[in-house]
Amino acid sequence: MKKLNIGILGPGTVGGGAYEILTKNHDLIQKRTGVSLQVVKILTRRSRPDLPADLLTDDPDDILNNPDVDVVVETIGGIQPAASFMLQAMNHGKHVVTANKAAVAAEYRELTKTAAQNNVKFLFEASVGGGIPVLTSIEGALSGNNFLEVMGIVNGTTNYILTKMTEEGSDYSEVLKDAQEKGFAEADPTSDVEGIDAANKLCILMALLFDKYVAPSEIPTTGISKITGADIASAASEGCKIKLIAHAALKNGQVVCSVAPERIPDSHPLAGVSNEFNAVYITGDMVGEVMLYGKGAGALPTGSAIVGDIISIAKEL
Ligand code: HSE
Repeated sequence: MKKLNIGILGPGTVGGGAYEILTKNHDLIQKRTGVSLQVVKILTRRSRPDLPADLLTDDPDDILNNPDVDVVVETIGGIQPAASFMLQAMNHGKHVVTANKAAVAAEYRELTKTAAQNNVKFLFEASVGGGIPVLTSIEGALSGNNFLEVMGIVNGTTNYILTKMTEEGSDYSEVLKDAQEKGFAEADPTSDVEGIDAANKLCILMALLFDKYVAPSEIPTTGISKITGADIASAASEGCKIKLIAHAALKNGQVVCSVAPERIPDSHPLAGVSNEFNAVYITGDMVGEVMLYGKGAGALPTGSAIVGDIISIAKEL
C-alpha cells in the first residue's frame, strides 16, 4: 500500500478539521485513491490532550526538515511565519497545502515560483470559499473559458452579520460576537468586517481567473462596519439586499476590481446566499454564468477542501 505522510502546522480550527477528516475518513480515502494518508507530525505550541501525544512537536523543523514528511499542511494563518514555513517546506522538496488566504495573497508570486522551481505541488483550494471547490473548478472544468467577471460573497462573518441584520434586525456588534463564537471570524475580526479578508480572496481569484496579480492593498476596499439598519431598509425598499461583494471584471481589456457592500437585486442568485454561506458567481465567455455555493468557513468545510488538495497529490503518486 502506498503511503503519503502529512505534517500539519497549526492544528487550530481548520488544521484540526483536516486532521479529523483524515482520521475519520481514512479508510474511505484509501479505498478511493489506493493511498494511505497518514498524519505523522503536528506542530503546536499549545497543550493538546485531544491529539495523539507522539505526533506533537513544538519544533517546526520536525516537519519542514523531516525526510518522512511528504506533504506539509499549513493552517497557522497570518502572513509570517506561515509564508516562510511554506517556502522552507517546498525548498526541502515537500508539497504544500494551505488554507491561508493572507499568506497566499501576499506572497503569491514567491510561493508559486518556489513550488515550480522545486517541482512540488502548492495547492490552496481552502483559501477561497472554504469547502466550495472554486479554485479547482476555475483551473479544471471551467478552464476553457475567457473569464469576464467574478462576483463573490467570500467572507462568512460579514455575510452572517448582514443576514442577521436584514432578517432579524439584529445589532451589528452582537451578531459579530455570535460569529466569533461560531468560529467563522478571524482572530482579529477587523480583517473580516473591513473587507481585508475578502480582498485577500479576490486577489487569489484574480490571479487564477485573469492571470493578473493585484496586491490586496491595491484593491479598493470598503467593509461593512458602517452599514446601518437604515441602509438595509433603504436597499429593501428597492427590492435589494446589501452584500459584501468581491468584484472583478474585464473592462476594455483591463481588470477592474473592488471589495464593497453592493445592493444586489432580490432576483439575483447572490441575494439568496445567507448566513455564513459563501458563493462565487463567475461569468465565462463560453459557459455563461456559473454559481458555486457552500460553506465558506468552519473546521470541517475548510478541512474538506484541504483534504481534497491532499487527495489530488495522492492521486499523482
Ligand atoms: N473569517 C473568514 C470568514 C474565515 O468569515 O469567511 C474563512 O476564510
